[in-house]
Amino acid sequence: MGSPTHYYSPSPDTPPRPATVRLDLPDLSLTLRTDTGVFSGTRVDPGTKYLLLEAPAPPTAGHLADIGCGYGPIALTLAARSPAATVWAVDVNERALDLTRANAESAGLANVRVAHPDDVPADVRFAALWSNPPVRIGKAGLHELLDRWLGRLDAGAAGLLVVQKHLGADSLQRWLGERGWSVERLGSRVGYRLLDVRRPVSGGAAGAAGER
Ligand SMILES: C[S@@+](CC[C@H](N)C(=O)[O-])C[C@H]1O[C@@H](n2cnc3c(N)ncnc32)[C@H](O)[C@@H]1O
Repeated sequence: MGSPTHYYSPSPDTPPRPATVRLDLPDLSLTLRTDTGVFSGTRVDPGTKYLLLEAPAPPTAGHLADIGCGYGPIALTLAARSPAATVWAVDVNERALDLTRANAESAGLANVRVAHPDDVPADVRFAALWSNPPVRIGKAGLHELLDRWLGRLDAGAAGLLVVQKHLGADSLQRWLGERGWSVERLGSRVGYRLLDVRRPVSGGAAGAAGER
């Protein structure tokens, strides 16, 4: 028997059941295509909505990242708020990548680049990274993912992570601190923590990554 399909499966084998969800924010309203086999396909995830409501304005230019883009609510919001920036919408799930591509096209957001993690050019550095990260892949995978992508933040740039409290937000915050990241809790609501992660001047894996 094969392994069961998760929202983070590379090629979900659940029969497609296309649907739409509304993303309504004070500055943006979009109808987004979703499907089975992707994260939170029946409504915008409350953690994602919280991040999008609370996030400070993103940098107006440069490369921005949404790591684990799903069907694209975070990437498309970044792209709409920063039309002169290039937004990398990254996921391992092919169905999610196809949906993000289609959603960006329907919304007329030509500044979204949809990519598998290995297809983001190695020299791209991010002026900001926003993510509702895939906590359910397990601690080792999550730590590897965060090391990989936070390590590509420009000096002084912030990573904004929304994580469910009961899925280990506080232990993740501690781990990031131990890795040398400077982490501030921007807020806590509806069972989620919103974390601002920055590279310190020096020290730890985070400081070392900045010196590359
Ligand atoms: C919690 S969901 C968030 C989806 C979307 N950003 C949203 O807010 O609705 C996390 C996403 O991370 C993706 N993911 C899992 N492992 C990944 C990896 N190694 N690299 C990039 N994305 C990954 C999953 O496929 C999933 O779409």
